[in-house]
Amino acid sequence: MLNVTDLGEGTTVFWIHAFPLASSMFEGQLAIRGVRHVMPDLPGFGQSRPDGGALSIDDYARTILDLLDHRGIDRAIFAGVSMGGYICLALARLAPKRLRGLILIDTRETADTAEARAGRLVSIEKVKKEGVRPIVDAMLPKMLTPAAPREMKDRVREIMNSSTPEGVIAALHAMADRPDSTATLATIDVPTLIVVGEEDTITPPADSERMKAGIAGASLTRIKGAAHLSNIEKSAEVNRVIASFVAGLS
Ligand code: MLT
Repeated sequence: MLNVTDLGEGTTVFWIHAFPLASSMFEGQLAIRGVRHVMPDLPGFGQSRPDGGALSIDDYARTILDLLDHRGIDRAIFAGVSMGGYICLALARLAPKRLRGLILIDTRETADTAEARAGRLVSIEKVKKEGVRPIVDAMLPKMLTPAAPREMKDRVREIMNSSTPEGVIAALHAMADRPDSTATLATIDVPTLIVVGEEDTITPPADSERMKAGIAGASLTRIKGAAHLSNIEKSAEVNRVIASFVAGLS
């Protein structure tokens, strides 16, 4: 069973976290009112135990669909950051009728390049030998801008360090093998909001511009002074744009 935070009343938003983080990366989004916030920890992250086997991005999406069924939720808005966005796009392909809306934050629709994929395989070997810390140390500087407060950097490090090696290895394999979702973009027929930090170097604004061009009617907000985890670094700005998007769907 996944650990799930389920708080608030209103339009249901499923928040799907980035790699290698956990649902606690959305602490700041709980301030958005008029929303039922459903925030699962994916297997092996946060307080969810590892699944124990190999997983694909579609497997994570199916786990989210099981959660919807389990809670009797027919449709929801899905909001995903980075890897969470890859899972949102899998949901759009596998179960389009379950979508009320989509919020794609600091993510992209394309698959890994050969170079990125090779890098994942190196990371997997590193985690097997040294645990998650080297991955966390390498990724942390790209998650937030250098100007982010020390406590924020420490909190992100703490969340990342709570990931299990099994969960991290499974997610690295899943991301390395994920399909290109370009063709899915044209099939999305629900309101879609795209958000990206202007200083995101992992999934830069150009990726978001391309997704916007591919999804009919999508809107894009670029967040100044934020890197990859824009919802953490500039939570007030991101919450404003998300609250207004959700209110428009209620
Ligand atoms: C994430 O934030 O989920 C990861 O950086 C995504 C990735 O490595 O492709």
